[in-house]
Amino acid sequence: MSESKSTYEAALERSRAIEKDIQVNPKKYRVLTGDRPTGRLHIGHYFGSLQNRVRLSKLGVPTCILIADYQVLTDHDAFSMISQNTKQLVIDYLAAGIEPGEDVIIYPHSYVPEANQLMVPFLTLVTNAELSRNPTVKEEIQSAGLKSVNAGMYTYPVHQAVDILYCKGTVVPVGKDQLPHVEMTRLIARRFNEKFCRNREPVFPMPQALLSKTPSIMGLDGSQKMSKSRGNAIMLCATEDETAALIKKAKTDSDRNITYDPENRPEVANLLMLISLCTGEEVNAIAAEIGEGGGGALKRKLTEALNETLRPLREERKRLEASPDYIRKVLLDGAEKARAMAAETLNEVRHVMNMEI
Ligand code: TRP
Repeated sequence: MSESKSTYEAALERSRAIEKDIQVNPKKYRVLTGDRPTGRLHIGHYFGSLQNRVRLSKLGVPTCILIADYQVLTDHDAFSMISQNTKQLVIDYLAAGIEPGEDVIIYPHSYVPEANQLMVPFLTLVTNAELSRNPTVKEEIQSAGLKSVNAGMYTYPVHQAVDILYCKGTVVPVGKDQLPHVEMTRLIARRFNEKFCRNREPVFPMPQALLSKTPSIMGLDGSQKMSKSRGNAIMLCATEDETAALIKKAKTDSDRNITYDPENRPEVANLLMLISLCTGEEVNAIAAEIGEGGGGALKRKLTEALNETLRPLREERKRLEASPDYIRKVLLDGAEKARAMAAETLNEVRHVMNMEI
């Protein structure tokens, strides 16, 4: 525990330093981030990571957003929806304000064969023991209740290192649960450089996690992280009426006087935080304004704030849904640019491993 805490604190410190420097030197960095295509995104994703990606890409940081369609095979039996989910993710990204272009790309990682080739040498740089003690992997195995665990489940963090290192990604904006994977990526980069680049320039830069500043967003039940599978989420694509109906059912408590008290009133605090994320007002000020209005007034305020915040995104979403050719083009363009970077890295890797013919 103390070890993981110090890893966390160290990551937090590095995170803060990067956040400062990135404002001044955006081109010095490359952001690499991604999602598994398991469905559409909800407001937890929006406030927790999507807004941050938009912000970083608008600062001018070269940004790769990958859709982890191979990784999704490790913990999902169903694969019939991967393609549709991939396209829905692109729609959510674009609607949220990601603008693909020369320096900003979106692609499925299965479409970058030159990057995937790095998997073989990378696997030789870690031990079975290291793979099986990854806390996030353990947690996933447990929560999925898997009886037998496929090898992809243990090795996907190595594949995530491929995702990050093939394009020499240096900044990985993630939540806390992804830290073990960033640590594994750093380990692989360090071992690769030590083994193969002894008397020469290292091939891989050390990637850093950029920890999100937004506290974890709870679902409408107020007790667990927001997630579609738990049925406590508001999807970005929901209509205004659906949003209102979901918020109406959200859990609050019987005290009519609204106060911000995350410890004792987590459900109310979560709704206040969501309003604050929409309007930029301070949570205590929002609570004071609602005062004796109770859960009803709190929910009305959130419904209004959220629907207003999401209105432009939802309109853009509809336009994009009507342009499937454009969505496909974004993915193919992204994959082409990713392949060019991957081919260059693979050449360097072959060179230092003495495998050129
Ligand atoms: N593991 C991430 C998730 O489950 C998805 C992912 C795959 C990723 N490759 C990545 C995230 C590389 C950041 C960087 O959400």
